[in-house]
Amino acid sequence: AASLHADIGEVLLTPETIAQRVGELGRELAGDYADKRPLVVGTLKGAVVFMADLVRAIEPVPAGLSLEFIRASSYGAGTVSSGKVALGGTLAAADIAGRHVLLVEDIVDSGRTAVALVDHFKAAGAASVKMASLLSKPARRTCAYKPEYLCFEVEDKFVVGYGLDFDEQYRSLPYVGVLRPELYTGFE
Ligand code: PRP
Ligand code: MG
Ligand code: MN
Repeated sequence: AASLHADIGEVLLTPETIAQRVGELGRELAGDYADKRPLVVGTLKGAVVFMADLVRAIEPVPAGLSLEFIRASSYGAGTVSSGKVALGGTLAAADIAGRHVLLVEDIVDSGRTAVALVDHFKAAGAASVKMASLLSKPARRTCAYKPEYLCFEVEDKFVVGYGLDFDEQYRSLPYVGVLRPELYTGFE
């Protein structure tokens, strides 16, 4: 097994646990999107690792499945958040119109990013917009939102790994772990 990063206090989800659930979700999505020519959209950067594993688990492959990415980041990260979410990237409305969009996220926390993404894709004329998220922290919600597809609900702990960062670090860890509190105390 891979060694545990020194900054991680506890592993919440092992690579095996993640792989098992992602495989299950992929098969479910293959059924639900079989005839829908899905446009699978990953949110940069947190969703990259989950996206790579999830799309390979969507089998049999729905005809017309294609992949895109969108950048989403919260304004005013830190102590004061304006509550605004900036979207960026090259996805044109013409590429979205009429498509069944499946958003892929690493985590739904306050719910603001998810709501902004859903609003954006609906406004661009998507035939449907749903989300598959690796994690959800319902305790942190300020915007009512529930992803249609979810791998794991987690407690309100500072989780990193499998795409999730703290100050851009730890995204490459193959598991989801809890960051040692002394590493972010006074940061948030
Ligand atoms: C994180 C995460 C989600 C969002 C969830 O992204 O990847 O996209 O925050 O938080 P919310 O539910 O409170 O909106 P972040 O803005 O940190 O960018 P990143 O994906 O590049 O890490
Ligand atoms: Mg993100
Ligand atoms: Mn982040």
